[in-house]
Amino acid sequence: MSARPALELTALTAGYRDVPIIHDISLALAPGSITTLIGGNGAGKSTLLRAIYGTNRWFSGQIVYRGEDIHALEPSERLRRGIAFVPQGRCNFPSMSVAENLKLGCYTLAARLHRPRIDRVLSLFPMLRTKWSSAAGNLSGGEQQVLEIAMVLVTEPSLLLLDEPSLGLSPKMQAEVFAAVRDIAAHGVTALVVEQNVHGALLVSDTAVVMELGRKFMEGPAASVRDDPRIREAYLGGNIKETIEA
Ligand SMILES: Nc1ncnc2c1ncn2[C@@H]1O[C@H](COP(=O)(O)OP(=O)(O)OP(=O)(O)O)[C@@H](O)[C@H]1O
Ligand SMILES: [Mg+2]
Repeated sequence: MSARPALELTALTAGYRDVPIIHDISLALAPGSITTLIGGNGAGKSTLLRAIYGTNRWFSGQIVYRGEDIHALEPSERLRRGIAFVPQGRCNFPSMSVAENLKLGCYTLAARLHRPRIDRVLSLFPMLRTKWSSAAGNLSGGEQQVLEIAMVLVTEPSLLLLDEPSLGLSPKMQAEVFAAVRDIAAHGVTALVVEQNVHGALLVSDTAVVMELGRKFMEGPAASVRDDPRIREAYLGGNIKETIEA
């Protein structure tokens, strides 16, 4: 392990108002790696991504990004430093065109950067060029997800946080979104991706982190987490909570 982690959490506890939801989370993401975050409903996956981006309440612990603890920085400052977040659910402007949505993604950038940054994401996702003038709401679910990822990629993040990018998509569209995440990581971007499609996500990721009841339950290379009998049991219709208590 030579390179400094792209992101390092140490004993992070965070939540909402006066209620801590995730507890004592420690995690190190290798630069350019894809980490899948899995866990049941309410396990705290979205809360962890929000804590990294800074849109909920920090209680204690460190969030070290590029060698600096960023826990006190505003989300806008974290974005400026290279952390991008695509929240759970649809987050484009459906009545606006693909072009307008991409331009909105550029709102934090100097005007001279808009064109080259948009050109770069169009070369990564040529589909967006073919849909340039279409209303975003008329794109398929998978195409909208790609658009939403592209809307943050124009900021050229080094750390991309994606909350359930494949939710509600057909298997074919899920595969396209996973392929897009791989492309992005191949360009050196570190990705932390929450996924309910555990099987598909583990196939394309390097590392897996399993959360349960607000705590980290398991972490390891994606292949070994996939082969772990507790994970197989929990995600083949069993109950992960019972597995922990067993
Ligand atoms: N804005 C909020 N204010 C207060 N509590 C919240 C808020 N958002 C989530 N919670 C609570 O935090 C806990 C974890 O929720 P979270 O959304 O992080 O889970 P999740 O793992 O992302 O679940 P899902 O798979 O359903 O998206 C839940 O008990 C939830 O009720
Ligand atoms: Mg969630």
